[in-house]
Formats: sequence, structure tokens, C-alpha cells
Amino acid sequence: MFRVIVTQAALAAGPVAAAPAGDLARGEQIYQACTDCHSLDQNDVGPRHRGVYGREAGSLADYPYSDALKNAKIVWNAETLDKWLTNPQAFVPGAKMFFHLADAQDRADVIAFLKERAR
Ligand code: HEC
Repeated sequence: MFRVIVTQAALAAGPVAAAPAGDLARGEQIYQACTDCHSLDQNDVGPRHRGVYGREAGSLADYPYSDALKNAKIVWNAETLDKWLTNPQAFVPGAKMFFHLADAQDRADVIAFLKERAR
């Protein structure tokens, strides 16, 4: 019985350990690297980010996405953004974003920023 409970607790803890909690202030600093190509309210090299959290990938009518992202059928949330920012080319082959964040904490922080500040 005890063993069963421990196993379930370990399973429940799994995803939490994989995705550290995001720090908004740090995320804002990390977002500066994104602003080479993105801003919250203007399309640039990349699409604007206002409202991106919860939005379907490739869905702004006024930004010229790759066909790959337009057809990806992904909704941006903590999990999909984490995969995208780890390696956009691996997550959506043919996507035209060539930038990634190798550090899981950096990704979590910038995702917190997008979720809270890019609403
Ligand atoms: C060198 C330019 C560049 C940088 C730097 C960059 N991106 Fe992008 N990003 C793009 C391009 C181009 C696209 C469009 C991809 C496509 O259409 O396949 C994109 C798309 C995205 C999307 C999908 C948005 C949508 O409307 O579906 C997200 C989310 C995103 N980027 C987040 C980020 C974040 C967060 C950072 C910083 C950690 C970042 N990007 C840094 C160029 C960049």
C-alpha cells in the first residue's frame, strides 16, 4: 500500500520537476533576446506576441507564417511553448524560427512573461 502511494506521488511530481516555475522578472529580461525579431504589438521578423498564450499557432491573419506553422494545429500553452523554445525546428519541422533557449529555467521564465504580460 505504501509503495503504491509513493509511486503515484512520484508520477504526480514528474511534470512539475520537468517544468520549473517561471519567474516573471527574469522572463522579462530573457524576452529582450526575443525582441530582435518579436514585439508584443507589432509584427516584425516574427509575429507579435500579444495574446499568444492560448492562441492557435500560426493564426494571425496579417503575419506571413511558414506553411509548417500555419498547419501545425498547436495551441500555445506552457507545454507547447516549452517544446517550441527548446527546438522550434524539431517541434515543427519547416518552421522559420531559428532561435532557441537551451536552459529549462530560461524557457519557464519567458513563458511566464508571455502568459502574464503578453495577455
Ligand atoms: C531571429 C528571429 C527570432 C527570434 C530571436 C525569436 N523568434 Fe520567435 N519567431 C520567429 C519567426 C520568423 C517566427 C514565425 C515562424 C514560422 O512562421 O514558422 C516565430 C514564431 C514564434 C512563435 C509562434 C507565434 C504564433 O503566432 O504562432 C512564438 C510563440 C515565438 N516565436 C516565441 C519566441 C520567443 C519567446 C523568443 C525568445 C525566447 C523568440 N520567439 C525569438 C523569429 C524569431
